[in-house]
Amino acid sequence: MLQALRGMKDLIDDGEKFNYFVKTAENVAKKYGFSFVETPILEETSLYIRSVGESSDIVGKEMYRFEDKGGNDVSMRPEGTAGVVRAFVEKKLDRKGGLNRFYYCGPMFRYERPQKGRLRQFHQFGIESFGEESVYEDAAVITLAKNIFDDLGIGCELQLNSLGCKECMPTYRETLVSFLRSHQDKICDDCKKRTETNPIRTLDCKNSECQNIYVDAPKITDNLCQNCDTDFEKLKKLLEASNIEFSINKNLVRGLDYYNKTAFEFVSKEIGAQSAIAGGGRYDKLVEYLDGKETPAVGFAIGIERIFPLFEKKDESLNKFYIGAMDEKYTDTSFILAVDLRRENEVTFEPKTKSLKSHLKGADKVGAKYCCVIGENEGQNNEIWVKDLEAKEEKVIKQEDLKGLIG
Ligand code: HAM
Repeated sequence: MLQALRGMKDLIDDGEKFNYFVKTAENVAKKYGFSFVETPILEETSLYIRSVGESSDIVGKEMYRFEDKGGNDVSMRPEGTAGVVRAFVEKKLDRKGGLNRFYYCGPMFRYERPQKGRLRQFHQFGIESFGEESVYEDAAVITLAKNIFDDLGIGCELQLNSLGCKECMPTYRETLVSFLRSHQDKICDDCKKRTETNPIRTLDCKNSECQNIYVDAPKITDNLCQNCDTDFEKLKKLLEASNIEFSINKNLVRGLDYYNKTAFEFVSKEIGAQSAIAGGGRYDKLVEYLDGKETPAVGFAIGIERIFPLFEKKDESLNKFYIGAMDEKYTDTSFILAVDLRRENEVTFEPKTKSLKSHLKGADKVGAKYCCVIGENEGQNNEIWVKDLEAKEEKVIKQEDLKGLIG
């Protein structure tokens, strides 16, 4: 039997839940002034090398990368930010200036070892905000994410860090590298490699022996320049004032290379080892790295499959009708009534003629509130039998009054 590839899943049971999430998230994003953007799944590989970074696991080990029939080196997007920045620059929005706020939703691809909460094809809902350098935008982006989780009834913890800027990061990097070099004999092979390629990433190594050593490692938040420090303090104040709880995680470095200043993740204790349900931060240099005019930017992405276990789809407030006939003569009439009702309501139309008892069973099965059936008597008088299955009341009404039954 043919099966989906390892680490890839059909959205077949959760399709409606997926849509419910997207609608909820979109609703919040729109209130913050974000508009929808869609970029291609396939991009030139160099886009990801120049943004996410060659030394990151995502680019170094996990990309679905191949040569297309035209001999081009292409990759399936492992994340959404790079593509949106490419589109932003290509459309010359960096030259126009002003604020540009986008949200997107779609599949991402990472050739990782699949496990609970970790897929090779997964979906992200992401937002990217361009043009605002003040920390108010960082705070707005974080409250936006929190509002989405609140609307879904998801409890989670916000972890925050600052990664500094081009003023303070290089000096800190050197301090960290000398610390790491002085512990080379005790740290894992990955960290040894990273000491030279991407020292900051050592800080979130999963090896507990490394972590014991890094307790004493210099921390970026203790080495921020005046400007970064002021912004970080201001961000904390804004979040506190907005009643957003957070903790500072000095080892939060993110797996993508483009971040500076604010970095954050939302984590849930209820879903096992892959606990990050959203991640993001500021990336003020990325537009410039991708040949655009320097533009401050900040954003995040939520892992949709990761949050599936954490929320239920709320029943939409549409009234549910079930409608059918007991005699073939009246099936067309019930079909036409269904078409009309569907302008405002959710309707299950039953094309087979059945006994009243079977129709009631059918209505029950689809969870309808109203079971509407045209029998012989009703049909002759242009009437219809209606039972309110919640109130357990039944009556016969004129067919033309069916639409006015509620409200
Ligand atoms: P990221 O932290 O790599 O950030 O991914 C964001 C979220 O996607 C994660 O927190 C997680 O919930 C989900 N995720 C990542 N990998 C997988 C996987 N293999 N299976 C299931 N879910 C996964 C980014 O991608 C950045 N582009 C976010 C961003 C936007 N930063 C600024 N703007």
